[in-house]
Amino acid sequence: MILVIDFGSQVAHLISRRINDLGVKTKIILPEDALTEIAKEKPQGIILSGGPDSVYAKGAPTIERKVFDSNIPTLGICYGLQLMMHLMGGKVVSGKKEYGPARLVIKNAKSKITKNIQKESGVWVSHGDEVVELAPGFRIVGSTERVPASFIENDLKKIYGVQFHPEVEHTEIGKQLLENFIKLCRAKREIEPINIDEIVNKIKKQVGKTYVIGAVSGGVDSTVAAVLMSKAIGKQFIPIYVDNGLMRYDTKDHLAKIFEYTKIKVQVINAQDETLKRLKGITDPEEKRKTIGKLYIDIFEGEMKKIIKSGKNVKFLMQGTIYSDVIESKGTKNAAKIKSHHNVGGLPENMKLQLIEPVRNFYKDQVRRIGKMLKLPDVFVYKQPFPGPGYAVRIRGEVTKLRLEQERLADKIVLEELEKAGYLQKIFQSFPVLTGARSTAVKGDGRNFGEVVALRIIESKDVMTCKWADLPYDLLQTISSRIVNEVPDISRVVYDITTKPPATMEWE
Ligand code: XMP
Repeated sequence: MILVIDFGSQVAHLISRRINDLGVKTKIILPEDALTEIAKEKPQGIILSGGPDSVYAKGAPTIERKVFDSNIPTLGICYGLQLMMHLMGGKVVSGKKEYGPARLVIKNAKSKITKNIQKESGVWVSHGDEVVELAPGFRIVGSTERVPASFIENDLKKIYGVQFHPEVEHTEIGKQLLENFIKLCRAKREIEPINIDEIVNKIKKQVGKTYVIGAVSGGVDSTVAAVLMSKAIGKQFIPIYVDNGLMRYDTKDHLAKIFEYTKIKVQVINAQDETLKRLKGITDPEEKRKTIGKLYIDIFEGEMKKIIKSGKNVKFLMQGTIYSDVIESKGTKNAAKIKSHHNVGGLPENMKLQLIEPVRNFYKDQVRRIGKMLKLPDVFVYKQPFPGPGYAVRIRGEVTKLRLEQERLADKIVLEELEKAGYLQKIFQSFPVLTGARSTAVKGDGRNFGEVVALRIIESKDVMTCKWADLPYDLLQTISSRIVNEVPDISRVVYDITTKPPATMEWE
């Protein structure tokens, strides 16, 4: 097995998953436990993850230097590489910053770690610090344009370091690099693929004879979670859809199709007016998320009381939380909080229901794989993800009835045009953002000082990184013309050409 030491990375779990995908077991541990865990687990390899700190900052997470004397092949990623150099006598400075895509050129193709890796490739980077002097015994095997020490090795000690992220899907050589590392570790490949029966049995055991109410939204995560629940506990599972008016215009129809197909009965609760009332005057993104989270729990607890009155012992609330939601909401000790996904960090602490989250440990692409294993049709499995707080986080500033209507209409136009041009299935998410900015336009000889809409249309699989979609200009033109013509009070449309990292997918 391979130990992954987590320095607060957004992707420590993803690193671990990539290694698991190659058949090797992993354990994610905290830096302070490194020596004890090495002695206990006797790993074949060690990976030091990235993290948000600077190695020279006060209180930055670290490990004992002795870890590198254990004769175990080690790979440092980003912060992991910098920490290795810092501890072994190299020099790290606040250097040339790189965020997003970069080109890596291999300088030493003969090295074991660069085997079958092409000379030049696209890699994904996200760092503010840089290694400017290598520790004794190390040499450079690859560089990016901005950072010479981007890929380094000490072949004798089998210690390697990369300033880029091999675990993310947009690093072209990532899988091969991890494969090479696993070979150098001589780690055994012993992991079984996803096992539906195991997931179902775990739910049965956890729930026993109690009842579970489930939050469903029509999205792939909660649909897959709901089908797993229903498979495990049948009628003890009661799915509920809260119609807060913040969901996509076609959600109710889509939901009806899902529950007709799966033959699960769903309750619909209309909370449109109450949602707008509670969101009145709120402009802060985190406050919006928390307000929506609170309302949502109030509604579910209200339903819980009604169901309990009817004689059923409701104990759990099922949610379709997935791993990227957890990690971005600060799900691990050292990870930075990016935003409170309302189904993770946005829930009130004194909630009476216990959470049950059947797909919490999976990434989006794995959830989709489970959906396929459950034989769900592609229209359900490949539906574009839509955030829990819905349009509220795509409207910068206050959410009003009028702005909701503008957003809904613009969203419909984007989806219709992508579908017509055959691009809808190729992209991961598409949406307009009401930016809150205003700009001047001339409409019918008159001045219009309307709102600026930003289009965010992106490609991604695991949600941790994304690229903006390279769409034909005439398609972008059609979308833009339709939005300024058909949506009232919109003066301008811009296309967001920022990768993640650094920009998150949503604007809030
Ligand atoms: P970000 O903006 O964090 O988005 O790069 C990553 C993915 O998560 C979705 N998202 C959310 N989903 N509650 C959710 O259920 C939220 O608060 C939330 N914020 C973002 C986003 O649409 C993308 O798929």
